[in-house]
Amino acid sequence: MRSLVAGNWKMNGLAASLAELESLKAALAAAAPACEVLVCPPFTLLAQAAAVCGVALGGQDCSPRDGGAFTGDISAAMLKDAGASSVIVGHSERRQIHGERDSDVAAKAQAAWRAGLSAIICVGETEAQRDAGNAHGICSGQLDASVPDGATPQNTIIAYEPVWAIGTGKTPTLDDIKAMHAHIRSCLVTRLGEGARGIRLLYGGSVKPDNAADILNLPEVNGALVGGASLKASDFLGIIGAIKPA
Ligand code: PGA
Repeated sequence: MRSLVAGNWKMNGLAASLAELESLKAALAAAAPACEVLVCPPFTLLAQAAAVCGVALGGQDCSPRDGGAFTGDISAAMLKDAGASSVIVGHSERRQIHGERDSDVAAKAQAAWRAGLSAIICVGETEAQRDAGNAHGICSGQLDASVPDGATPQNTIIAYEPVWAIGTGKTPTLDDIKAMHAHIRSCLVTRLGEGARGIRLLYGGSVKPDNAADILNLPEVNGALVGGASLKASDFLGIIGAIKPA
């Protein structure tokens, strides 16, 4: 399995930020990475980013619907048309700020699949849930209800992102990440069968160049979903470079 380092720009990036993609592209062309690289810019930059090219692109969210009178929404087919190959669904910021439920996330993942995109489905516990000893139960509940039947290594990637680690500079211990990824793998295999061993499991939450090597080389960690540190090519390249060749 080839690891994946995915950057989530969130609501950051104007046309000038495409220079970061140019730098990323040049560096990756000069030294081939040991992993796949994906950038999820805001919707407005997708088509321009596709013209810069050199890295795979994704959306940060999509509508569960295929089209019609849904002002302000973006369909998975629109993302594909603009140059995306995947889309993040169920990010904790969507779940918390926009009140998305597991059933919404599952519907968005299915919409992504219908458009031929792979879905990066996010799960993760809050700090209170972890402190209460419920982290594994919360994540398995989210997996059960957010990952539709029919998930395969080709159409689905899972991102484990503890809510309390996102943008805070805090990360779980390496043992906690290892235990959670083993738990997620076992939930997926129980539910979907042995084929689920090929589904990539990303860790996300305050991944930086200085902690990436420790996190990304743990068993069952098949890459990272990176927010803040994906905005500057130099930081993002520091994370990409932490993946050891298989
Ligand atoms: P962060 O965000 O790397 O800034 O913590 C990760 C994410 O939300 O995907």
